[in-house]
Amino acid sequence: MNIFLTGATSGIGEHLSYKYAKRGAFLALSGRRREKLDSVAKKCEELGAKVVTYCVDVSDQHATKESIQDFLSKISHVDLVIANAGFGHIDQIHKGDPTVLNKIIDINVIGVINTVIPFMPSMIKNNRGHIAIVGSVASHFAWPGAGAYAASKHAVKALSQSWRRTLPKNVDVTLICPGFVKSEMTDTMGTWTPFMISTEDGVNRIVKALDKKKKMFIFPFVWRLVILLEKPISYFMSIPFRKAHEKNRNKL
Ligand SMILES: NC(=O)c1ccc[n+]([C@@H]2O[C@H](COP(=O)([O-])OP(=O)(O)OC[C@H]3O[C@@H](n4cnc5c(N)ncnc54)[C@H](OP(=O)(O)O)[C@@H]3O)[C@@H](O)[C@H]2O)c1
Repeated sequence: MNIFLTGATSGIGEHLSYKYAKRGAFLALSGRRREKLDSVAKKCEELGAKVVTYCVDVSDQHATKESIQDFLSKISHVDLVIANAGFGHIDQIHKGDPTVLNKIIDINVIGVINTVIPFMPSMIKNNRGHIAIVGSVASHFAWPGAGAYAASKHAVKALSQSWRRTLPKNVDVTLICPGFVKSEMTDTMGTWTPFMISTEDGVNRIVKALDKKKKMFIFPFVWRLVILLEKPISYFMSIPFRKAHEKNRNKL
């Protein structure tokens, strides 16, 4: 199995690498941190994988395309592309600075496009392949305080739906929508991580969904109920943000 995976240096991507390494896959692993990439690659090789690594930033269109062309030159076809690299941050709209919001869109949307589109000619030619995009529960729920993250994950939901409807039927597209899964991203979030599951548990569920070629996978199940109750829940969640604006109005 030939697999290209972004965001392999930590969290979900790192553990997906180990899971597919145990199956003896040929893995192309990418991320920006060279040392972490090398240590994940070494462990994957020990687990039975053949590995190539690419130290690239997914928001760099040309570097990402070069890494994909290099991987494609080593294989006859690609089986699975997992666009997993992502970045999360709160908006902090009261600061009036769009820098972090733009970074989120660059990595989570432009990065996904840069990762997936260069594989499409080969997938269409070979009439096979599977594209997995890591969205989020935020693909369905625009949290107060995290508009750019929700926008980025709503955007990849739209991309995955449109690409599924456009590509040949033998090319599958899966949108993975995790709730909270332990990772470096959730480590920065403090204590507000309801229904959090371990990285291993999350990755086991993701791999099962990918094996079944699911179109969309929202997990754990409780988040499907939360999404159904988006309006009342977001009403209560917005109260502390509005109170903070009231309190800080004179300082702005
Ligand atoms: N954990 C959760 O609760 C959760 C919930 C919903 C969705 N997700 C999604 O799951 C995906 C994986 O996140 P995670 O939770 O595993 O977080 P993580 O541990 O922080 O991993 C993020 C990965 O993305 C890579 N990355 C970030 N910016 C990049 C860039 N500009 N170019 C290339 N690689 C970049 C990081 O590698 P480098 O720093 O080495 O580049 C790292 O390998 C993300 O798309 C995230 O939005 C996570």
